[in-house]
Amino acid sequence: MNAIYVRPMIASDIPLLAAWTVELPLMQRYRLTVERASQQFETALVQQDILLVADVGDNESACGFAWCLPKGGFGRSVYLRLIGVRPDRARAGIGAALLGAAEQAAIAVKSDLLLLVSDFNTDAQRFYQRQGYTQVGALPGYVLPEVSELIYWKQLRTP
Ligand SMILES: CC(C)(COP(=O)(O)OP(=O)(O)OC[C@H]1O[C@@H](n2cnc3c(N)ncnc32)[C@H](O)[C@@H]1OP(=O)(O)O)[C@@H](O)C(=O)NCCC(=O)NCCS
Repeated sequence: MNAIYVRPMIASDIPLLAAWTVELPLMQRYRLTVERASQQFETALVQQDILLVADVGDNESACGFAWCLPKGGFGRSVYLRLIGVRPDRARAGIGAALLGAAEQAAIAVKSDLLLLVSDFNTDAQRFYQRQGYTQVGALPGYVLPEVSELIYWKQLRTP
C-alpha cells in the first residue's frame, strides 16, 4: 500500500471527486448527481468548511474526502457532513486517515464531533464505532422516509 497524504481540498479536485462520489451506492440511494455534488463542494469551499482530500502515493489524487461543518451540529458541535473513499480504494486505511485528520482539524474548533449515518449503512457504522464513535440517537425518516439517520458522537477532548 502506498502512503496516504491528507491535504486541504482545492477547487481543481472537485470534478474528479464529484465523478466518483456519485458512483458510491450510498450516494445513488440519496440520488446525488454530479452537478449537485460539484455545487456542494464549491459552496463548502467558499464557506471555508473543513474540507480534506486524500492522495495515495505520488500519482493517485483525491481518492477520498472528508467534509465537516465547523458549527453544523446544533450550532455548537463540529458536524461531519460527509466522508467518502473511492470504492476501488476502500478498506485500505484511507477513511481512517481522513477521519483522523478531520478530528484534528475539528479539535481546534470544538471538543466534539457529530455525524449521521444511515441505518442500512452497517459498514460505515462499524467503521465509526471502531474510530470511537457512539450512537446517541436516531432520526426516523429525516432525509429519506424509509431510512433512520443514526446520530453518532465522539468527545474529542475535554470541553
Ligand atoms: C465508510 C468509508 C468512508 C470507510 O473508508 P475506508 O477507507 O474503507 O476505511 P478504512 O480502510 O480506514 O477502514 C474500513 C475497514 O477496512 C479495514 N482496513 C483498514 N486498512 C486495511 C487494510 N490495509 N487491509 C484490510 N483491511 C483494512 C479496517 O479495519 C476497517 O474495518 P471495519 O469496517 O471493520 O471498521 C468508505 O467505505 C466509504 O466511502 N463508504 C461509502 C460512503 C459512506 O458510507 N460514507 C459514510 C457516510 S455516513
